[in-house]
Amino acid sequence: MKGFLLTSILTAVSVLACSPGPVRQEWRQLSSGQQQAYLNAINQLNQRQDDTSNDSTDPATWSFAHFAIVHARYQQANHNQGSVQAPPFFAWHRIFLHYYEKALQSIDSSVVLPYWDWTQDSQNPLSSDVYAQLGGNGQGASGCMETNPLNGWSSAVNGGCLKRCSGAGQTLYPAGAVVSLMNGSPNYAALNRQIQDGPHGAVHNVIGGRCADGGVGDMYTMSSAGDPIFYMHHAMVDKIWMMWQDACPSKFANDYSAAVNSVMAPFTQTAQDVLNFKASDGNFCYGYSSSGINSVQLNKCAGAPGTPTQSGDSAAPSATAPADSVDQYFAELRLLDLIPNSADILKALFPGFSNSNINTISHFMHSPASKAKAKRDYLSYGNFTSVPDVIPTYQLNPGYKIKAPCQNDTTDLYNLRHPTPLDKDYIKMMNVDEKSARHVEYLAKLAVDDMNNMEGYVPYSALINFNAHNKLGLFKPKQSN
Ligand SMILES: *[C@@H]1O[C@H](CO)[C@@H](O)[C@H](O)[C@H]1NC(C)=O
Ligand SMILES: *[C@@H]1O[C@H](CO)[C@@H](O)[C@H](O)[C@H]1NC(C)=O
Ligand SMILES: *[C@@H]1O[C@H](CO)[C@@H](O)[C@H](O)[C@H]1NC(C)=O
Repeated sequence: MKGFLLTSILTAVSVLACSPGPVRQEWRQLSSGQQQAYLNAINQLNQRQDDTSNDSTDPATWSFAHFAIVHARYQQANHNQGSVQAPPFFAWHRIFLHYYEKALQSIDSSVVLPYWDWTQDSQNPLSSDVYAQLGGNGQGASGCMETNPLNGWSSAVNGGCLKRCSGAGQTLYPAGAVVSLMNGSPNYAALNRQIQDGPHGAVHNVIGGRCADGGVGDMYTMSSAGDPIFYMHHAMVDKIWMMWQDACPSKFANDYSAAVNSVMAPFTQTAQDVLNFKASDGNFCYGYSSSGINSVQLNKCAGAPGTPTQSGDSAAPSATAPADSVDQYFAELRLLDLIPNSADILKALFPGFSNSNINTISHFMHSPASKAKAKRDYLSYGNFTSVPDVIPTYQLNPGYKIKAPCQNDTTDLYNLRHPTPLDKDYIKMMNVDEKSARHVEYLAKLAVDDMNNMEGYVPYSALINFNAHNKLGLFKPKQSN
């Protein structure tokens, strides 16, 4: 049983048309040797020197500083600016990450870019092992990085030290909220707007943060690619795009909202080259491992994105979820089955838990009757095509009992917190369209409320799972044999 679950969950990958290719793993799925190899490679890339003014050189030969500078130099074309959509966002960053990976491979050919599934840590990101192993928070009023592996790194774009002033008690988007936004995106333009201005921006806003001396962390600015955590964050963003493309390839694999043959300077590729990975450059052939976000079912073509449209509703759940989806929906519980010593953890967390019901964890945590309610999570609130003129004022649905706990309350292990809204300063600095960002935040709150109000449902992103797979350091895939 467990062997079957192992193969079905941990080797499940998201790949588009080509295969086989390297599989990018979540940081916690790497062995400690692989983690060390990655950290060594970024350290060497940081010591490399090249002509950062010449973007015509082979990007695989660039220095770390050159990547940071290029990201800032081309930012206007590749990020949403106010109400102006920048369609290249996903595609340009896919190319950028590809060359960053190539540059690392020129140092150590065994390295494959890892990603950070921050949905797993969304409820308490500063306690994440991933964050800690990538250097944790900056020191003092100015937030300079003084811990390894980033001790003494400088900021090529902003000058001075590399900074993080990550805010305590802040939260990111949980898996269910991200998937709800994906389900509500009927085309590339919608996905671009919702993911870029919502969950993507939240990671920059929270991890960069505002420093006591009035400055901000690099992730908060267009100097963000000077912080190595940027690349693992954007690999997650790329995975989200790929998951969405894979959810309905006939509609989404080639969907794009601008001229698909425009070259993505300073690179030579076009969006077309990286959309479905079978086009001209065979190097763009890779996949992503399954991680926490995969525990929430993404609508397939049958229940196409946007099918249920509701806002702040108490209406009946949609009946469009495919028949087997409820079981897939509960894949997260099976992940718990994979954790060594899970019985001990569960006994500590749930008084009354005994060895005799170790094989029925899902029954222990979820009565079968609650599964019907869990279907609610298939709802997407957007069917997003444009930002409404007036963003509705958020209020808890009167039919709901459970309010999201405060962001800084880490005692509630089960209920999800609303994601921390983007700072006004971040919005201004990044020239984000505030209305668009607030709209996404509103939709995310509705999705979080829904999850919290499913009777007996414990979301994958809940702190109880966080404790199991992160804090206790036990979330390691077993080697298949
Ligand atoms: C920039 O790099 C390209 C490719 O290596 C080279 O042909 C060109 O001469 C360089 N330009 C400058 C100004 O150094
Ligand atoms: C979602 O939006 C699209 C585009 O405007 C529209 O064609 C479709 O009917 C909408 N779906 C629902 C369920 O409202
Ligand atoms: C926790 O959050 C609440 C409201 O969200 C705030 O009033 C309180 O001061 C916060 N406590 C700490 C220690 O930050």
